[in-house]
Amino acid sequence: MDLLVLGGTEFVGRAVVEEALGRGWRVTVFHRGRHPAPPGVRVLTGDRATGDLGALARGEWDAVVDTWSGPPRAVADAAAVLGRRVGRYAYISSRSVYAYPVPAPLDETAPVVEGGDGDYAAVKRGGELAALEAYGDAALLVRAGLVLGPWENVGRLPWWLRRIAEGGDVLAPGPRELELQYIDVRDLAAWTLDAVAARRSGPYNLVSEPGHATMGALLDACAHVTGSGARLRWADPEVITEAGIEGWTDLPVWLPPGELYESVHRGDVGKALAAGLRCRPVTETVRDTWDWLRSLPGPPPLRPDRPAPGLARDKEAAVLARL
Ligand SMILES: NC(=O)c1ccc[n+]([C@@H]2O[C@H](COP(=O)([O-])OP(=O)(O)OC[C@H]3O[C@@H](n4cnc5c(N)ncnc54)[C@H](OP(=O)(O)O)[C@@H]3O)[C@@H](O)[C@H]2O)c1
Repeated sequence: MDLLVLGGTEFVGRAVVEEALGRGWRVTVFHRGRHPAPPGVRVLTGDRATGDLGALARGEWDAVVDTWSGPPRAVADAAAVLGRRVGRYAYISSRSVYAYPVPAPLDETAPVVEGGDGDYAAVKRGGELAALEAYGDAALLVRAGLVLGPWENVGRLPWWLRRIAEGGDVLAPGPRELELQYIDVRDLAAWTLDAVAARRSGPYNLVSEPGHATMGALLDACAHVTGSGARLRWADPEVITEAGIEGWTDLPVWLPPGELYESVHRGDVGKALAAGLRCRPVTETVRDTWDWLRSLPGPPPLRPDRPAPGLARDKEAAVLARL
């Protein structure tokens, strides 16, 4: 297979590249050149924000994987330049496209937001529509949920690992058995390439089954791999929210039970499971992310367009003192 990855040098795109190379596929990446491309790929440079797509004017690929999360125009522009020179178009979308509040169970038939220039949900839906308009049945929409694993540039699992590595008493948002839904970036990559090869099309929610891990299993795994002797101090959700601490942003991954929790951590993934989705255990995701963090010469990468998640130590200490 000849694969073109639009992006391919950061988190999700890099995992797709590595998975494809591991399968013996030939891989081309198209990017600005701000991050080093993984070894073993052919590199094309340009800038989707300014419409500089000249490097894509020649060449043919069996499929393209597009990781774009900016204005949808860039997806339409890439599709217009590539045309029939690519066989399939896989757009890495997001479960954020579903209109809130979402129905339960949240499957691919749920209503979606309007696509266009706007917030994250609108641009991701806009990207989907642009891919569908250009490629129709040859467009695959990978509606990823929370993505974790090595090379994460959002800072969620890296924050937990680094906080727990510092040791001492750590505020652990409960309940311990709170079920989580996420996908290891490498499982996302493997499923996406399988789906491309199997000529799948349309939308697929892509996360683990609810309960694949729990908050307790995630934080225990962090304590285990870091070996810091940190003591997890479990707190009820009400204690945390009453202290003005926000789930997801202050305490990454975690959400207090409620409507938002239901939409993020209890979605339906039956369609992807039936199409071969396999999810590795949380212990492996945590271990490999920790190994990657320790291999870095400095702090982990962080996307410049999102605030870094994580709880200030004084806020944490104030809650711990009350437990
Ligand atoms: N993280 C999550 O939990 C989560 C959840 C659901 C969905 N998603 C989706 O997953 C995707 C994340 O993919 P990712 O981690 O690979 O992407 P990313 O972190 O957004 O990386 C951007 C990639 O695109 C390239 N790029 C950026 N601006 C460009 C431009 N103007 N022209 C050409 N290339 C440009 C970058 O290359 P250079 O910088 O090297 O030039 C880099 O390879 C997004 O679509 C996101 O919506 C993420």
